[in-house]
Amino acid sequence: MYIEIAEKAGFCFGVKRAIALAEQTAEKYSDVCTLGELIHNERAVSELAGKGIRSIVNVSEAKGKPLMIRSHGVAKTVENEARKIASEVIDATCPFVKKIHNIVADVPENAKSIVLGDEEHPEVVGIIGSANCTAYACRDFEDIKRLFERGEITENDTVILVAQTTFDRSRFLDCSRKVGESYGCVKIYDTICDATVKRQECARQLAKRAALMIVVGGKSSSNTRKLADICGEYCETVFVTSADEIPLQVLKNLRSDSIIGITAGASTPAYTIKEVHERMNEEIIKNTNENEEDFASLLEQDQSFNRLYTGKRVKATVVSVSKKEAVVEVGAKQTGYIVREELTNDPNAEVEDIVKPGDVIDAVVVKVDDSVGTAALSKKRVDAQLGLEKLQAVKDSAETIEGTVAQVVKGGVIVIYENTRVFIPASHTGVPRGGKLDDLLKKSVKFKIIEVTNERGGRVVGSIRQAIKEDRDAERAKFWETIEVGQKFDGEVRSIESYGVFVDIGAVDGLVHTADLTWNRVGHPKDIVKVGDKISVVVKSFDPEKKRVSLSAKDPDDNPWTKFVSEYRKGDVIKATVVSITEFGAFAQIIPGVDGLIHISQISTERVTSIASVLTVGQVVEVKIIDIDEEKSRVSLSIKALMETDAPAEEEE
Ligand code: F3S
Repeated sequence: MYIEIAEKAGFCFGVKRAIALAEQTAEKYSDVCTLGELIHNERAVSELAGKGIRSIVNVSEAKGKPLMIRSHGVAKTVENEARKIASEVIDATCPFVKKIHNIVADVPENAKSIVLGDEEHPEVVGIIGSANCTAYACRDFEDIKRLFERGEITENDTVILVAQTTFDRSRFLDCSRKVGESYGCVKIYDTICDATVKRQECARQLAKRAALMIVVGGKSSSNTRKLADICGEYCETVFVTSADEIPLQVLKNLRSDSIIGITAGASTPAYTIKEVHERMNEEIIKNTNENEEDFASLLEQDQSFNRLYTGKRVKATVVSVSKKEAVVEVGAKQTGYIVREELTNDPNAEVEDIVKPGDVIDAVVVKVDDSVGTAALSKKRVDAQLGLEKLQAVKDSAETIEGTVAQVVKGGVIVIYENTRVFIPASHTGVPRGGKLDDLLKKSVKFKIIEVTNERGGRVVGSIRQAIKEDRDAERAKFWETIEVGQKFDGEVRSIESYGVFVDIGAVDGLVHTADLTWNRVGHPKDIVKVGDKISVVVKSFDPEKKRVSLSAKDPDDNPWTKFVSEYRKGDVIKATVVSITEFGAFAQIIPGVDGLIHISQISTERVTSIASVLTVGQVVEVKIIDIDEEKSRVSLSIKALMETDAPAEEEE
C-alpha cells in the first residue's frame, strides 16, 4: 500500500489571504472580530481565537473594534453598517467572490440576477445582497425553469446568471447548457473558482486509481463535502476532520498494492493534512509488521525505502536501449527493464524511437523477480492511465486531436494518441462502405473522442467522421458568409442530370444549368462533361436559406454574341446551317453559339405548308440577315428576301 496526496489539496489562495490578513491585524490589535468564522475549519478557528481573532454573529458586536469581512464576502448593507460601527474594516473577501459582486452590482435595477448555489451559503447571501436588481438563488435548472413558469422572470427581461465559486462544475455546465437552449435572454458568467475545480479534478483522478480516499476538512465546509461526494463515486471514501477520526479498520480490507488517496478542502490547514498522512503511514507500517514477520529486517536493508512491488509507480532513468527493451534504473536493488511491448501501444514504433539513455520516465512495476534481481516495468500502462484522463478532458472539451493510424483491426482501426490506443469503428473512419481501411494505415488523422470508459483497463473510441463533419460545417458556414455573385471557382463535376450538372466547389455543390454549361447548343450535359471533370465556374446567384448556388461555366470572354455583332450587319448575305426545325420556322447556326430564325414566312416566295419538305437539319442555306435584336440577342434570317432580289434579274434576263 502507498499513500498519495492529491496534487491540489488544502488552503486555496482566498483562504490563505484571509488568514494572513487576520494574523497581520492581530499583531496590531489585541481583539479582532471576524463576521462569522473566518474559515470553515473548527480547529483552525480555535487556533485563531488563541491569537485574539474571534468570530462574532452581529456587526453590532464589533462596536469600536477592528472587524474582518471573511473570504465569503458580505451583502452591501452589512458592509455599510460595519463601516459605521467598527473602528476599522478589513475586507478579506476573496477577489474571485468580489468579481461576482461587481458583476451583479453592474446589472441595471430593472434586470434580474440568478445565482446558482446554496441559498443559505454565506457567499450566496453576500452576492444576492450586492445586487442592485432582483436576485434569486437557484440550486439547478429546475429552480430556474420555475422562475420563468411563474412569470417572475420573462424572456423580455435582461437576465444574468452567475455561480457560487464552489459550485460543482459539471452541474454548472449541465445547467448553463439547458438555460442556453431554453432561455435566450440569459447571459451566463462562469464564476466557478479555478481552485475549486482543480481540487475537484485532482481528487477525481486520484479517486479513480485509489482503493480508499480520505477527505480531510471541516464538516461545515461545502467544498470539502463536495470533494467527498466526488471521491465517493469512484472508491470507498471517508470524510474526517482530523487524523483522530480515521476509521483505521478500513485498512484491513485493502489489498497490499492498494493506493490510499488523501485530499482536503480549501479551508483545511496543511498541518491537518500532514497529520492524516503521518497517521496513515504509521498504520500501514503497523499492518505490514503484523503480516510480515521479517519486515524489520527489510527496513534495515538500505534499499528498504525503494522497495519495489507490483503496482508501484516509479520514476525510471533509461540506462540503455536495445531492439527488444530498455534497461532502466529505479533506485532499488533490482535492475529494471521495460520490454518494447510495455513501452508503447504502437506496433510500428522501435524502442529507440520512444526512449533514449538519460530519459526519466514514469513507469509502473509489473513483476519483481528477486531470485534474479530484476523488475519488469511498464511505461505504456502509466501512459494509458494518463492518456485516459487526458482523452476524457479532450472529450469533455469536444476538441479535435491528431494521431497516427497504427493498425487495422476487426471492425475499424486503432489510432495511437500519446501512447493511448483509440479505437475508431469502420463507420467512423470516413472511409466509404466497402472502401479499404488499409489506405489509412500509418497516416496521420484528425479525430474526435466520442467515448472513454475505465472498464477493463480503459477503452477509448474516436471518430474521424465527426472531425471531418465539423471541418466541413465550419467551411460551409464560412462559404455562406463570403459568397458573392461573380465569384469564380475551380470545381469538379459530381453528378450529371438531364437539366444540368452538379459541381463541387469546395464547401458545397452548385448547379450549372444545361443552358449555362457552354455558349454552344447542348443536347444533354453528358455530351460535353463527365463526372470527375474539372471545370471553372462563376456564381450566377445563390440562396443561403435553401443552401442553393446557381453557377455558370460560360466564359464571358468567349461570348459568341459579342463576336457576331462585331462581324455581321443587317442586310449581310451569309451561309448558315439548319440546326432545328419547328412549326413556325427553322433555326440556322450562323457561328457556333449564335443561331438565327428563318421564319416560315421567310423560307420561300411560295407558300410553305411543311418546312420539313423544304429544309432539312444539316442543310447549308444562303440567307439574308433581315433583323438583329441586340437587346434580346436574336437574329432573323430570310431565304425569301434573296429570292425576291433574284426575281427581277431573271425576268430581265
Ligand atoms: Fe476564493 Fe476560490 Fe478560495 S473563490 S476563497 S480562491 S475557493
